[in-house]
Amino acid sequence: MDTTLRALFREYHPAKSADLSGTPDIPKETIDGVSICGWIRSVRDSNKFAFITISDGTSQQQLQVVAEPDKIENYKDIVKQNVGAAIRVTGAIVPTPERKQPFEMQAAAIEVVGSSSPEYPLQKKGHSMEFLRTIMHLRPRTNSLGSVFRIRSLAAQLVHKFFYERGFIYVHTPIITTSDAEGAGEMFRVTTLPADNPPRADDGKADLSQDFFGKTASLTVSGQLNVEAFCLAMRNCYTFGPTFRAEKSYTPRHAAEFWMIEPEIAFADLSDDMDLAEAFVKYVTQGILAEAADDVAFLNQFVDKGLLLRLNLVARSEFARVTYTDAIEILKKSGSKFEYAAEWGVDLQTEHERYLTEVHFKKPVFVYNYPKKIKAFYMRVNDDGETVAACDMLAPGVGELVGGSQREERYDVLVDRMKELNMPLEPYAWYLDLRKYGSVPHAGFGLGFERLIMYLTGMGNIRDVLPFPRTCGSAEF
Ligand code: 4AD
Ligand code: MG
Repeated sequence: MDTTLRALFREYHPAKSADLSGTPDIPKETIDGVSICGWIRSVRDSNKFAFITISDGTSQQQLQVVAEPDKIENYKDIVKQNVGAAIRVTGAIVPTPERKQPFEMQAAAIEVVGSSSPEYPLQKKGHSMEFLRTIMHLRPRTNSLGSVFRIRSLAAQLVHKFFYERGFIYVHTPIITTSDAEGAGEMFRVTTLPADNPPRADDGKADLSQDFFGKTASLTVSGQLNVEAFCLAMRNCYTFGPTFRAEKSYTPRHAAEFWMIEPEIAFADLSDDMDLAEAFVKYVTQGILAEAADDVAFLNQFVDKGLLLRLNLVARSEFARVTYTDAIEILKKSGSKFEYAAEWGVDLQTEHERYLTEVHFKKPVFVYNYPKKIKAFYMRVNDDGETVAACDMLAPGVGELVGGSQREERYDVLVDRMKELNMPLEPYAWYLDLRKYGSVPHAGFGLGFERLIMYLTGMGNIRDVLPFPRTCGSAEF
């Protein structure tokens, strides 16, 4: 039986809850003929026998292999193996109720599949996240990054499961685009013109009509505008894919390439939108607690001691909702000394967001109805003429997790707003069409997938939840 550590531990040591407090079912008898492939974490040789610990990345769990010289014909070669070597062990799974681990493997044969060397950078000791970023090709082999990327994978599956169960249509929105969905001008250009000597137009500038797409094209910052077109044809839709922002920000929460989940719901308003975002975050959190219990338990012990408590709280509590205007009042009355004073009309700074979610509400909070002038062109103008039906969900530890809004469905109001912002109408003609032919109230949000993973794992830096992060000044590996 060729198996993985995940399958083995699931069968013989299922965690009963996220804190592993349940009594594990241990195998009552020896199971023969099991074969496991993995990488050596440590070898301890005591002449009479050797303990070899292996991991295979399928689970947080490691397997202790016991090798005896008179049973393993290449014993001498095996105990000389370096950390990181790949081996295949065949033998028996034997219950060890008296020990820390529920069972161990007694090897009948061990084959070296690929040896390692003493220079292997991941020796058995703790490593800083900074150091691990210099070996991104090897860091998935560590316990902490292993947990993060298993949780990331599971969370991605849960995203689709959530929308599938609710009948949403999954739309693949384009990655190359000629419209700036946020109107913020933070786009990476896509061009095949030579950088050093492009063909010139009469005005001396690069002649974009000769470029691949015949005009300026970029990597998308959001699939929203495209998903709106589908929403106004098929009702509830979502997109989930990579997005790109050429923001020069060096914070631990911004990446140049990140994944975004963007649902869009028709015949719906801002309150429906917030309900959906709240249900979504709870669903994924509950799914992770239920299905990645040992990874969460590990991260809770070694990365963020408050993780488990926080996730359980979020899975159960009702998120707070506060208008932007009231949020400013709370900040003003807080008595806290902020670096930037909270002022109506000014965007909330990270310090303000953290105060609201971590100190004041102590749970995720939606701030909604923001001043029109600090938000994107497509957001629906409220009756006061000053604010728009926008919401941000702020979460402890990560700040802004979700940005959403009810969309401006009124053609004239939208055109006025775009003119006010000096936006060219022509590139958005198709978007405006959606307001001409059967326009309906609709709303949606964007949730930064990496921010969600930071939240679910307790990792403090976005670089440690992306397999190969791309950030301002860095696109290594
Ligand atoms: O608030 P944002 O800019 O909203 C939009 O793009 C809308 N079009 C979404 C929509 O309504 N469909 O971005 C949405 C979320 C943010 O709340 C944040 O979680 C994440 O995307 N995000 C980033 N994550 C990592 N790195 C960056 N540079 C990010 N910029 C935004
Ligand atoms: Mg935002």
